Amino acid sequence: MHILEGEGVTKYFGGLAAVSDVSFYVDEGEVVGLIGPNGAGKTTLFNLISAALEPKTGEIRFKGKKINGLKPYQICRLGIARTFQTVKIFGNLPVIENVRIGSLFGPFKGLSTADATREANELLEFMGLSDVAYAPARDLTLAHQKRLEVARALATKPTLLMLDELMAGLNQTELIEAMDLVKKIREKGTTIVMIEHVMKAIMNICDRIIVLHHGKKIADGTPQEVANSKTVIEVYLGEASDAGN
Ligand SMILES: Nc1ncnc2c1ncn2[C@@H]1O[C@H](COP(=O)(O)OP(=O)(O)OP(=O)(O)O)[C@@H](O)[C@H]1O
Ligand SMILES: [Mg+2]
Repeated sequence: MHILEGEGVTKYFGGLAAVSDVSFYVDEGEVVGLIGPNGAGKTTLFNLISAALEPKTGEIRFKGKKINGLKPYQICRLGIARTFQTVKIFGNLPVIENVRIGSLFGPFKGLSTADATREANELLEFMGLSDVAYAPARDLTLAHQKRLEVARALATKPTLLMLDELMAGLNQTELIEAMDLVKKIREKGTTIVMIEHVMKAIMNICDRIIVLHHGKKIADGTPQEVANSKTVIEVYLGEASDAGN
Protein backbone atom coordinates (compact mmCIF):
# COMPACT_ATOMS: atom_id res chain seq x y z
CA MET A 1 0.00 0.00 0.00
CA HIS A 2 1.18 3.53 -0.78
CA ILE A 3 1.43 5.24 2.59
CA LEU A 4 2.42 8.54 0.94
CA GLU A 5 1.68 9.78 -2.56
CA GLY A 6 2.29 13.00 -4.42
CA GLU A 7 0.73 13.90 -7.72
CA GLY A 8 1.92 16.81 -9.85
CA VAL A 9 3.33 18.63 -6.82
CA THR A 10 4.65 22.10 -7.68
CA LYS A 11 6.06 24.94 -5.58
CA TYR A 12 7.39 28.26 -6.86
CA PHE A 13 9.57 30.77 -5.05
CA GLY A 14 8.99 33.86 -7.18
CA GLY A 15 9.79 32.70 -10.71
CA LEU A 16 11.78 29.66 -9.55
CA ALA A 17 10.06 26.27 -9.69
CA ALA A 18 11.75 24.71 -6.65
CA VAL A 19 9.54 21.61 -7.03
CA SER A 20 8.05 21.12 -10.47
CA ASP A 21 5.25 18.67 -11.28
CA VAL A 22 6.70 15.93 -9.08
CA SER A 23 4.74 12.70 -8.67
CA PHE A 24 5.97 10.04 -6.27
CA TYR A 25 4.90 7.35 -3.85
CA VAL A 26 6.27 5.69 -0.74
CA ASP A 27 5.10 2.22 0.25
CA GLU A 28 4.47 1.14 3.81
CA GLY A 29 7.67 -0.21 5.40
CA GLU A 30 9.96 1.16 2.68
CA VAL A 31 13.09 3.20 3.16
CA VAL A 32 13.18 5.67 0.29
CA GLY A 33 16.16 7.90 -0.41
CA LEU A 34 15.63 11.36 -1.84
CA ILE A 35 18.77 12.59 -3.55
CA GLY A 36 19.90 15.24 -6.00
CA PRO A 37 22.31 18.16 -6.32
CA ASN A 38 22.21 21.19 -4.00
CA GLY A 39 19.11 23.24 -4.69
CA ALA A 40 17.32 20.32 -6.37
CA GLY A 41 14.18 20.83 -4.26
CA LYS A 42 14.57 17.99 -1.74
CA THR A 43 14.03 20.02 1.43
CA THR A 44 11.25 21.97 -0.27
CA LEU A 45 9.47 18.67 -0.96
CA PHE A 46 9.79 17.75 2.75
CA ASN A 47 8.42 21.19 3.62
CA LEU A 48 5.44 20.59 1.33
CA ILE A 49 4.72 17.15 2.82
CA SER A 50 5.02 18.41 6.40
CA ALA A 51 2.96 21.53 5.55
CA ALA A 52 5.68 24.03 6.40
CA LEU A 53 4.87 25.16 2.84
CA GLU A 54 1.80 24.78 0.66
CA PRO A 55 2.07 23.53 -2.92
CA LYS A 56 0.84 25.80 -5.69
CA THR A 57 -0.64 22.84 -7.51
CA GLY A 58 -0.83 19.10 -7.03
CA GLU A 59 -2.00 16.81 -4.30
CA ILE A 60 -0.25 15.02 -1.45
CA ARG A 61 -2.00 12.02 0.12
CA PHE A 62 -1.16 10.14 3.30
CA LYS A 63 -2.85 6.76 3.79
CA GLY A 64 -5.12 7.64 0.86
CA LYS A 65 -6.35 11.00 2.21
CA LYS A 66 -5.40 14.41 0.87
CA ILE A 67 -3.20 16.22 3.38
CA ASN A 68 -2.14 19.38 1.60
CA GLY A 69 -4.06 22.25 3.11
CA LEU A 70 -3.71 20.87 6.65
CA LYS A 71 -1.58 22.56 9.33
CA PRO A 72 1.83 21.17 10.34
CA TYR A 73 0.55 20.01 13.76
CA GLN A 74 -2.28 18.12 12.04
CA ILE A 75 0.18 16.41 9.72
CA CYS A 76 2.29 15.44 12.72
CA ARG A 77 -0.70 13.99 14.56
CA LEU A 78 -1.66 11.96 11.49
CA GLY A 79 1.68 10.20 11.85
CA ILE A 80 4.28 12.09 9.81
CA ALA A 81 7.35 13.34 11.67
CA ARG A 82 10.48 14.97 10.35
CA THR A 83 13.90 16.23 11.23
CA PHE A 84 15.57 19.33 9.81
CA GLN A 85 18.65 19.89 7.67
CA THR A 86 19.81 22.47 10.21
CA VAL A 87 18.91 21.01 13.60
CA LYS A 88 16.02 22.74 15.33
CA ILE A 89 16.26 21.51 18.88
CA PHE A 90 15.23 23.48 21.98
CA GLY A 91 18.80 24.28 22.96
CA ASN A 92 18.09 25.76 26.39
CA LEU A 93 16.03 22.78 27.51
CA PRO A 94 17.48 19.53 28.85
CA VAL A 95 17.71 16.72 26.32
CA ILE A 96 14.91 14.76 27.99
CA GLU A 97 12.54 17.76 27.85
CA ASN A 98 13.04 17.98 24.09
CA VAL A 99 11.79 14.41 23.78
CA ARG A 100 8.98 14.78 26.36
CA ILE A 101 7.62 17.64 24.27
CA GLY A 102 7.33 15.22 21.36
CA SER A 103 5.43 12.71 23.50
CA LEU A 104 3.10 15.28 25.04
CA PHE A 105 2.46 16.90 21.67
CA GLY A 106 1.86 13.62 19.82
CA PRO A 107 -1.38 11.97 18.77
CA PHE A 108 -2.39 10.59 22.18
CA LYS A 109 -4.27 13.24 24.09
CA GLY A 110 -4.20 13.06 27.86
CA LEU A 111 -0.85 11.30 28.11
CA SER A 112 0.30 11.74 31.71
CA THR A 113 3.56 13.55 32.35
CA ALA A 114 4.83 10.36 34.04
CA ASP A 115 4.10 8.38 30.86
CA ALA A 116 5.78 11.06 28.75
CA THR A 117 8.87 10.82 30.97
CA ARG A 118 8.88 7.03 30.69
CA GLU A 119 8.56 7.22 26.91
CA ALA A 120 11.29 9.85 26.66
CA ASN A 121 13.65 7.71 28.74
CA GLU A 122 12.96 4.68 26.53
CA LEU A 123 13.64 6.71 23.39
CA LEU A 124 16.84 8.20 24.82
CA GLU A 125 17.99 4.68 25.62
CA PHE A 126 17.08 3.53 22.09
CA MET A 127 19.01 6.44 20.58
CA GLY A 128 22.01 6.01 22.91
CA LEU A 129 21.45 9.36 24.64
CA SER A 130 20.62 8.25 28.19
CA ASP A 131 23.95 9.51 29.54
CA VAL A 132 23.20 13.07 28.46
CA ALA A 133 19.48 13.10 29.35
CA TYR A 134 19.80 16.10 31.70
CA ALA A 135 22.37 18.12 29.78
CA PRO A 136 21.18 21.27 28.00
CA ALA A 137 20.52 20.18 24.41
CA ARG A 138 22.80 22.90 23.01
CA ASP A 139 25.81 21.29 24.75
CA LEU A 140 25.54 18.08 22.71
CA THR A 141 27.79 17.30 19.75
CA LEU A 142 26.21 17.77 16.32
CA ALA A 143 25.85 13.98 15.95
CA HIS A 144 24.00 13.80 19.28
CA GLN A 145 21.84 16.84 18.47
CA LYS A 146 20.79 15.11 15.27
CA ARG A 147 19.95 11.95 17.20
CA LEU A 148 17.99 14.02 19.66
CA GLU A 149 15.92 15.43 16.81
CA VAL A 150 15.20 11.90 15.67
CA ALA A 151 14.22 10.93 19.24
CA ARG A 152 11.87 13.93 19.46
CA ALA A 153 10.34 13.03 16.10
CA LEU A 154 9.88 9.39 17.18
CA ALA A 155 8.21 10.57 20.38
CA THR A 156 5.26 11.74 18.27
CA LYS A 157 4.85 8.07 17.21
CA PRO A 158 5.08 8.51 13.47
CA THR A 159 4.30 5.83 10.91
CA LEU A 160 6.35 7.89 8.43
CA LEU A 161 9.64 9.49 9.43
CA MET A 162 11.37 12.00 7.15
CA LEU A 163 15.08 12.60 7.78
CA ASP A 164 16.74 15.62 6.16
CA GLU A 165 20.49 14.96 5.90
CA LEU A 166 20.89 13.06 9.14
CA MET A 167 24.39 11.98 8.10
CA ALA A 168 25.78 15.39 7.00
CA GLY A 169 28.75 16.58 9.03
CA LEU A 170 29.25 13.29 10.90
CA ASN A 171 32.63 11.55 11.18
CA GLN A 172 33.05 7.95 10.01
CA THR A 173 32.23 6.39 13.39
CA GLU A 174 29.19 8.62 13.85
CA LEU A 175 28.10 7.83 10.30
CA ILE A 176 28.11 4.08 10.92
CA GLU A 177 26.20 4.61 14.18
CA ALA A 178 23.64 6.78 12.37
CA MET A 179 23.20 4.15 9.65
CA ASP A 180 22.61 1.47 12.30
CA LEU A 181 20.04 3.70 14.00
CA VAL A 182 18.10 4.19 10.77
CA LYS A 183 18.07 0.42 10.27
CA LYS A 184 16.86 -0.09 13.87
CA ILE A 185 14.04 2.43 13.34
CA ARG A 186 12.97 0.67 10.17
CA GLU A 187 12.99 -2.69 12.01
CA LYS A 188 10.40 -1.21 14.38
CA GLY A 189 8.13 -0.88 11.32
CA THR A 190 8.48 2.83 10.64
CA THR A 191 8.45 3.91 7.00
CA ILE A 192 11.35 6.26 6.24
CA VAL A 193 12.12 8.87 3.60
CA MET A 194 15.67 10.16 3.89
CA ILE A 195 17.33 13.05 2.10
CA GLU A 196 21.03 12.35 1.97
CA HIS A 197 24.17 13.29 0.09
CA VAL A 198 26.22 10.50 1.70
CA MET A 199 25.91 7.89 -1.03
CA LYS A 200 27.33 5.09 1.10
CA ALA A 201 24.40 5.50 3.48
CA ILE A 202 21.83 5.81 0.70
CA MET A 203 23.08 2.73 -1.15
CA ASN A 204 23.38 0.72 2.03
CA ILE A 205 20.01 1.50 3.58
CA CYS A 206 17.45 2.40 0.90
CA ASP A 207 15.06 0.08 -0.92
CA ARG A 208 14.37 2.73 -3.54
CA ILE A 209 15.78 6.09 -4.51
CA ILE A 210 14.06 9.13 -6.00
CA VAL A 211 16.29 11.69 -7.71
CA LEU A 212 15.41 15.36 -8.10
CA HIS A 213 17.22 17.87 -10.30
CA HIS A 214 16.15 21.49 -10.76
CA GLY A 215 12.86 20.65 -9.06
CA LYS A 216 12.00 17.77 -11.38
CA LYS A 217 12.05 14.04 -10.72
CA ILE A 218 14.65 12.56 -13.04
CA ALA A 219 14.88 9.00 -11.71
CA ASP A 220 13.08 6.59 -9.40
CA GLY A 221 14.33 3.06 -8.91
CA THR A 222 16.40 0.60 -6.92
CA PRO A 223 19.83 1.80 -5.73
CA GLN A 224 21.42 -0.21 -8.52
CA GLU A 225 19.14 1.22 -11.21
CA VAL A 226 19.76 4.75 -10.02
CA ALA A 227 23.53 4.26 -9.70
CA ASN A 228 23.60 3.00 -13.30
CA SER A 229 21.35 5.71 -14.72
CA LYS A 230 23.22 7.81 -17.27
CA THR A 231 21.15 10.90 -16.44
CA VAL A 232 21.79 10.56 -12.71
CA ILE A 233 25.51 10.04 -13.24
CA GLU A 234 25.64 13.11 -15.49
CA VAL A 235 23.81 15.49 -13.19
CA TYR A 236 24.68 14.18 -9.75
CA LEU A 237 26.73 11.10 -9.07
CA GLY A 238 29.57 11.76 -11.51
CA GLU A 239 32.77 10.29 -10.16
CA ALA A 240 30.91 8.96 -7.14
CA SER A 241 28.85 6.61 -9.30
CA ASP A 242 30.58 3.58 -7.82
CA ALA A 243 28.40 4.57 -4.83
CA GLY A 244 31.37 4.22 -2.53
CA ASN A 245 31.54 7.91 -1.61
N1 LIG B 1 12.10 29.88 1.48
C1 LIG B 1 12.67 30.02 0.27
N2 LIG B 1 12.57 31.18 -0.40
C2 LIG B 1 13.13 31.31 -1.64
N3 LIG B 1 13.80 30.32 -2.29
C3 LIG B 1 13.93 29.15 -1.65
C4 LIG B 1 13.38 28.93 -0.34
N4 LIG B 1 13.64 27.66 0.04
C5 LIG B 1 14.34 27.12 -0.98
N5 LIG B 1 14.51 28.00 -1.98
C6 LIG B 1 15.17 27.74 -3.27
O1 LIG B 1 14.53 26.61 -3.86
C7 LIG B 1 15.48 25.74 -4.45
C8 LIG B 1 15.38 24.36 -3.80
O2 LIG B 1 15.89 24.47 -2.49
P1 LIG B 1 15.92 23.24 -1.49
O3 LIG B 1 16.34 23.77 -0.17
O4 LIG B 1 14.64 22.52 -1.55
O5 LIG B 1 17.07 22.34 -2.14
P2 LIG B 1 17.74 21.01 -1.61
O6 LIG B 1 17.58 20.00 -2.70
O7 LIG B 1 17.24 20.66 -0.27
O8 LIG B 1 19.29 21.43 -1.58
P3 LIG B 1 20.46 21.08 -0.53
O9 LIG B 1 20.99 19.73 -0.95
O10 LIG B 1 21.46 22.15 -0.74
O11 LIG B 1 19.87 21.09 0.85
C9 LIG B 1 16.83 26.41 -4.29
O12 LIG B 1 17.10 27.14 -5.48
C10 LIG B 1 16.64 27.33 -3.11
O13 LIG B 1 17.49 28.46 -3.18
MG1 LIG C 1 18.07 20.54 1.59
